[in-house]
Amino acid sequence: MPSQQTVFRDETKLDINYVPHRLLHREKEIRLLQEFFNFFLHAPGKMAQRVLIAGDVGTGKTALAQRFGLNITVEARQRGINLHYVHVNCRQHRGSLFLILHQTVSVFHPNFPKRGFSAEELLQILLQVLEEQNAYVILTLDEFESLIEREGSEAVYKLTRLQEARLDKPRRTSLICVLKNIKTVENLDPSTRSTLQSNIVRLERYTHEQLVDIVNDRVQLAFRPLTVPEDTVNLIAELAYSEGGNARFAIELLWRAGKYADAEDLGRVTPECVRRAVSAIYTLSRKSDLASLNLHEKLFLLAIARVFKENDRAYVSLAEAEQAYAVVCEEFNVQTYTHTQLWKYLQMLSALGIVRKSVSTVGQRGRSTLISLPGIPAYELEKELMALLEKQEAQEPT
Ligand SMILES: Nc1ncnc2c1ncn2[C@@H]1O[C@H](COP(=O)(O)OP(=O)(O)OP(=O)(O)O)[C@@H](O)[C@H]1O
Ligand SMILES: [Mg+2]
Repeated sequence: MPSQQTVFRDETKLDINYVPHRLLHREKEIRLLQEFFNFFLHAPGKMAQRVLIAGDVGTGKTALAQRFGLNITVEARQRGINLHYVHVNCRQHRGSLFLILHQTVSVFHPNFPKRGFSAEELLQILLQVLEEQNAYVILTLDEFESLIEREGSEAVYKLTRLQEARLDKPRRTSLICVLKNIKTVENLDPSTRSTLQSNIVRLERYTHEQLVDIVNDRVQLAFRPLTVPEDTVNLIAELAYSEGGNARFAIELLWRAGKYADAEDLGRVTPECVRRAVSAIYTLSRKSDLASLNLHEKLFLLAIARVFKENDRAYVSLAEAEQAYAVVCEEFNVQTYTHTQLWKYLQMLSALGIVRKSVSTVGQRGRSTLISLPGIPAYELEKELMALLEKQEAQEPT
């Protein structure tokens, strides 16, 4: 049976290992890194640089370091400088200095034996091979916390003071340490700390607008034209913003939502696909919250679920929800509550995190309250509420 075309053009662009060519809204930060390492292109052996990159989850630390590494390597090679950028994730090596160095040495000596050497010896071997090949290395220690936790100051000291005994030789190793919280470095002894703390690139959390740009950019690369509506992009950005301005969350949602669209042959990534993606990420922990709602809270929420189920939008207005609520009340044969009361319910549902409310300002006559459903697919919410309401009716026959 011929199935509908996939929404994806190139799924690899959503892979966690993909390094985007353009890092949107990080121009300043990448320029700062370039400045820190500018000497490389003119006098590569002159100094050894140390830089910290710090920022919360999904603020683009890894992507920034990798993009910078790829760029500077190309530039250096064009100038005949034998520069290697080596990116090692400390956590994946259980924070072990030995394993981290082994990984680094392996770049120059593939299949380097894992036994028979100490971390110190590996360091010496690294320096030696760089000397032999007249090479330079920028070593990025990603998830640096892990190394500090396991090895403490000493390992970091060894790495940063690598060159000190060889003052007459060119400086061949520079370090970029990537971590979430700069405070971690404060646990190190003062002299180690001082070698690290002078050059810091801080990444702020992305704003909603920045996330919209990042998602849109990735949509262009990974999806076929016109398969991802603006509403969907907005919803993803909003969810990722409330997850701490986390671009990783945004891209994961985008990918999963695309998968749901394909699974159902929709040909389009709808907001409902996004809601499913979220609910797959957070398994539903809200069922007990739903059960504790009173009758009219349940009816109002059911109405909201139905509006979402019946159309493809990411947002509905409070007015639409109220109309749907009136219909639901008729179905259940109860009197409707007032607008003021529903407004209070909306506050409550939003405080519980079941719905989210925002105020629309652009392109609308006046301001109106918008409702979105971040964490649960509308059909699932409806099913859950209907089950609860039927149980309630059975217990309290009218
Ligand atoms: N400015 C940006 N432009 C385009 N894509 C971005 C940008 N920032 C981050 N991304 C993408 O978002 C995802 C998460 O970024 P990244 O892995 O660099 O975050 P991180 O800060 O290292 O997170 P963690 O603290 O969890 O390691 C990646 O897929 C990355 O390509
Ligand atoms: Mg990272």
